[in-house]
Amino acid sequence: MDIQQLNKQFAIPSKLFFEKGNGELTKVCLCRNDDYLEVYLHGAHITRYRQAANDLLWLSNQAEFTESKAIRGGIPLCWPWFGRKESFPELPQHGFARCSRFEVESTAEDDDGALIIKLYLNENNGTLSIWPYSFRLTLTIKLSDKLIVDLETNNTGEIPFSYSEAIHSYFSVEKIEKVELSGFTQSEYLDQLSHSTERQHNTIKFVGETDRIYKSSQQEFKILESGNPKISISQFNANSTVVWNPWISKARAMADFPDHGYREMVCIEAANTGKGITLFPGETHNIRQVIARY
Ligand code: BG6
Repeated sequence: MDIQQLNKQFAIPSKLFFEKGNGELTKVCLCRNDDYLEVYLHGAHITRYRQAANDLLWLSNQAEFTESKAIRGGIPLCWPWFGRKESFPELPQHGFARCSRFEVESTAEDDDGALIIKLYLNENNGTLSIWPYSFRLTLTIKLSDKLIVDLETNNTGEIPFSYSEAIHSYFSVEKIEKVELSGFTQSEYLDQLSHSTERQHNTIKFVGETDRIYKSSQQEFKILESGNPKISISQFNANSTVVWNPWISKARAMADFPDHGYREMVCIEAANTGKGITLFPGETHNIRQVIARY
């Protein structure tokens, strides 16, 4: 469907509409009071979430908007695997969803004025050639006084499959040196840099490259800056939370990441890692992240 057809079928006047975005890719804009959200059909990728004048998400000013790449920043979806696919190093890191074009299933405004859009991806020849399963992946975005991102996987085929996943949110911060994350105390984590298992004793602070998978039973976190809570994040049906900041040399090594960008962002990702989730034919599972500003 082109932009005109999408608007004809799904627009909600002055509140939800489709436009040509960067790189000629189609984006959807959601406007609710003073809040604004932008999502690209490419990857069902949320690139902006603004409350009043405040950007809650970080988007790289060097992000590339092209069908073959994931957009750097915002909320990419890692699916049907998180990280590298074990035994298949040639397959794309974090799966294929973030580089696939999603379709629009529906849009709505509920009785409380929340805007809702559902985007979906089904298997196709490209996905079947690297992951031989039939599925329907549905991203539901609900914009009320907070943002609810819900990723549902449905096994539409005749054999079971297992997958891992992450809602890979990049949050915007003023200065990473002043950031603390609460909600992780006493959680065990896998340090992806040293490959050791550690325990978090206090709030998380950033003094260098950080790449950790928290096997957390806790599901609510806060981003604090200079001791003040700024953003609250909660997650549902997630066995892990990934915390990532590339710091100086990794930032420099990424073409789509500004050298000083590491000071302005932190990723906190709701994830199902490790063995992930197994779905039998007809079964569904959903993971959710909820983002709100203090
Ligand atoms: C994080 C991983 O989720 O994503 C990191 O834990 C990885 O190891 C980061 O470097 C970014 O990945 P990518 O593929 O978007 O550069």
